[in-house]
Amino acid sequence: MTEIGSRTPVFKTAAAWAPASLSNLGPGFDVLGIAIGKWGDRVDARISESGKIRIGYANRSVWSGTTVPDENTAGVSARSVLDRLGWDGGVELLIEKRIVPGSGVGSSAASSVAAAWAVNLLFGTPLAKTQIVDAVLHGESIASGERHGDNALASLFGGIIMVSSENPREYKRIGDGTGLCLSVILPEIQIMTREAREMLPERVPIKDAIHNASKLAFLVHAIGSENWREAGRMIMGDRIIEPVRSRLIPCYNEVRDAAEREGAFGCALSGSGPAMFALSGSVNDANRILEAMKNATLAVNVPSIGMVTETDTLGARAVEQGPVDAGGRS
Ligand code: HSE
Repeated sequence: MTEIGSRTPVFKTAAAWAPASLSNLGPGFDVLGIAIGKWGDRVDARISESGKIRIGYANRSVWSGTTVPDENTAGVSARSVLDRLGWDGGVELLIEKRIVPGSGVGSSAASSVAAAWAVNLLFGTPLAKTQIVDAVLHGESIASGERHGDNALASLFGGIIMVSSENPREYKRIGDGTGLCLSVILPEIQIMTREAREMLPERVPIKDAIHNASKLAFLVHAIGSENWREAGRMIMGDRIIEPVRSRLIPCYNEVRDAAEREGAFGCALSGSGPAMFALSGSVNDANRILEAMKNATLAVNVPSIGMVTETDTLGARAVEQGPVDAGGRS
């Protein structure tokens, strides 16, 4: 690991954005993640004279969370980057959440990643993305109680990521998602990742484990060869996690059926849900599938929002600093 040594800030302010992400993708529990376009969190970082980390939310953030730095994914990842840089001063973080928390599309991961990258920018970007992996995993672990990299590393690097579930420092980018269209819905139910992990079985039948291993292997191959029809078939093959978690989602079967009826290649839960996504090969198809998925949630009296999107291939990046509403700053 490169020794970074003691650094001093180059800029007083910097801003970063990190995308939302879909995770698990059926049989790839804690292993696969896709960064997606459109939704993401922004963090504005400012060097603070106080020497502490302070957290605030931009006024227009409807989904503000805790402002206690040690309990906030952004606060924890920012502190990790500052430690790595050997700087013991403070920063103010202004978080603009554009991803619904507890929705299954990597909300906590995006805040963790955007904060880490914004702090790195303050110092003139001395750290490569590979050097802040630990920081973003540490931040993300505050939300879920465990270190898992499927959302956080997809959000950091962009593209489609495969990560070791036991050691998330081992990861590979396995695709850009070229030609893949995604219909994503967020039913209006909140599921906290920590609880959705605690409900999972300690032991699974060997035949289910083997079945999932084979689906995952074919899924990774399909992603690498950009065969989205095959990938869609594989994401529907999880016999271990989704059958348990889907019980928390009253519209699960209806949404899957509706997506398949409209010609989706496949449809699955994202992360711990309730977000669900469907794969297709054209924007027209994806729009039609999205409407069918949204109508399916309404049929069981669950409203939802959704979008058609594609893979975000860039991951965390600097954004132009503009006037940010600082009303939420603590
Ligand atoms: N892989 C994690 C889980 C992602 O499903 O618990 C959390 O969003």
